[in-house]
Amino acid sequence: MAIEWQEEWVTDDDRIDAEHIELLSNVNDILNLLNAGASPIAISSSIQMLIRKSDSHFSYEEDLMSKSDYSDAAIHHDEHQRLLCAANIMASDLLIIDGGIDIVGIGKFLESWFTGHIERDDLPFFDYLSDHKTKGIY
Ligand SMILES: [Fe+2]
Repeated sequence: MAIEWQEEWVTDDDRIDAEHIELLSNVNDILNLLNAGASPIAISSSIQMLIRKSDSHFSYEEDLMSKSDYSDAAIHHDEHQRLLCAANIMASDLLIIDGGIDIVGIGKFLESWFTGHIERDDLPFFDYLSDHKTKGIY
């Protein structure tokens, strides 16, 4: 159930790549906890760690967007907020859980967060940024 790092996710920004790899490791830790039948509290605290790291990573990305006048910055920011909000609800729900953990639902959310967001939202932005760097605009 682990998500493997894909070469096509590599950008021109070493810090972004390092943070994406670290976030992926975090996501895989959560998937492992889900598979191992870990307690809801353990899963929740791992999701909270992902939220904290993502929050700072998203701020860095958004800073790059505003510095480079990226036209989809507002849409991208909203998507970051949606992901953080959904993860916060998930982490909170695990602390008051009454019944089984939705392993499949949490796993699907994490996968769509990671692969979906990088491929749909991040890569177009980093392509735009590379293009601007090449043209000397940024
Ligand atoms: Fe992003």
